This record gives sequence, C-alpha cells and structure tokens, in this order.
Amino acid sequence: MAGGSPPVTVALPDGVVHLRHHLDETAQQDLVNRILHAIGEEFWFQPTTPRWNRPFSVRMSNLGTLGWVSDRRGYRYQPVHPESGLPWPAMPAALQELWREVAGHPALPEACLVNLYRGTARMGLHQDRDEHDLSAPVVSVSLGDTAMFRLGGTERNAPTRSFPLASGDVLVLGGPARLAFHGIDRILPGSSTLIPGGGRINLTLRRVGQPLAKVASTGS
Ligand code: SIN
Ligand code: MN
Repeated sequence: MAGGSPPVTVALPDGVVHLRHHLDETAQQDLVNRILHAIGEEFWFQPTTPRWNRPFSVRMSNLGTLGWVSDRRGYRYQPVHPESGLPWPAMPAALQELWREVAGHPALPEACLVNLYRGTARMGLHQDRDEHDLSAPVVSVSLGDTAMFRLGGTERNAPTRSFPLASGDVLVLGGPARLAFHGIDRILPGSSTLIPGGGRINLTLRRVGQPLAKVASTGS
C-alpha cells in the first residue's frame, strides 16, 4: 500500500446498492445471448409517450409474465406485446437467481423490462411507480456500453448526482430509495463490444403484484 492512495468510495443514499462488476464477462455474454435469442426480431417495440405519442429514444422489450409498455393510452403492465398480442418470452432463470441473491424480497419479479440504448439514446428523470408492490426493490443490470446514470431523491426537484454504470454492474433501488427519481444522461459509445451492433442493454427486474400482506388478507 506504500505510496498508494486510499480507494475513493462515494456514499449512496439509503436503499441504493451499487454492485460493481457483479456479473463477470462470461455471465454477461451468456445473459446477452439468452436475451437476444428470446426477444428475436418480433418482441422489440418502440414505446411512445402518453398523450403526445412521441417516440422514446430507447427501444424496449420485456421478459416474464408481465411487461411494461408506454403508448398514447399511458404507462402500464400487460401480459402481451402491444402490437402482436403475443405473450412476452419467459424470463431467464439466471435473472430470477440474481433477484434471489440481491433483492431481499420473498416474491419473484413478474417483469423484466429490456431497454436498448444505441447512439444518443437517453432516458429522462423519472420514478418507477407503476408497480403495486413498492415493498420490493427494482433491480437493474447494465450490459454493454457504460451509461452515465443520474440519481435524485424522491422529490423531482431534489439535488441529483451522476455516476457511471458499467457492463456487469447491478444497481438496487429499494427501501427509502424505491421511488427515487433516476435517468440516463447518455451512454459512452464504444466503451464495450458486448452488444452486437454496439450500445447498451439495461434490464430492470420488477415485482408488480399486490403487496404480500394484502394478498394474505384476502386469502380467507
Ligand atoms: C430505467 O429506468 O428504466 C432504465 C435505467 C437504466 O437504463 O439504467
Ligand atoms: Mn426507471
């Protein structure tokens, strides 16, 4: 250690866990292969904003029994692709394993939203609040090009910070940070060769259902 500087660690707000390089290169490659194979050509869609119907700069797909979609009718979860009406492809077991490992929540996620960022794609500051079960965290996996992630507080005008999310990083937003505003300022093109054609894939694992307590109380 002589002459070395101490590692710089930046404290994150309560409820935010950033697991750097949580997935090694083999696991990243395996996940990308499985996801792209499951989605094929037919399960991508172009989300648009509610009301104004403007296209997002990312393309999206979903894996699991529910998927998040956005179009002029609004934001929602649904079991089928918005154009073809086909059920979403299954969520790979490796993602359920990852959830068990890091989420600290007994029920599995029903939805994995897949965002594809190419070129100048970005995502504005927003909250993930279309889920009923806010006791479960959102678990995010970054694959491919590094992204500059922006994290704020639970009020839109709270101060924000930004930090890079690299390929293989896992970020958990839970507890007091479950409704934290967040977004992607930009990706750093060419920082990874993992994604065929370049860019970044982000996976977010989401538990949608009713909180467990409510399910239990209606059971008898
Ligand atoms: C999202 O908030 O849906 C995506 C975040 C990310 O791409 O890291
Ligand atoms: Mn989000």
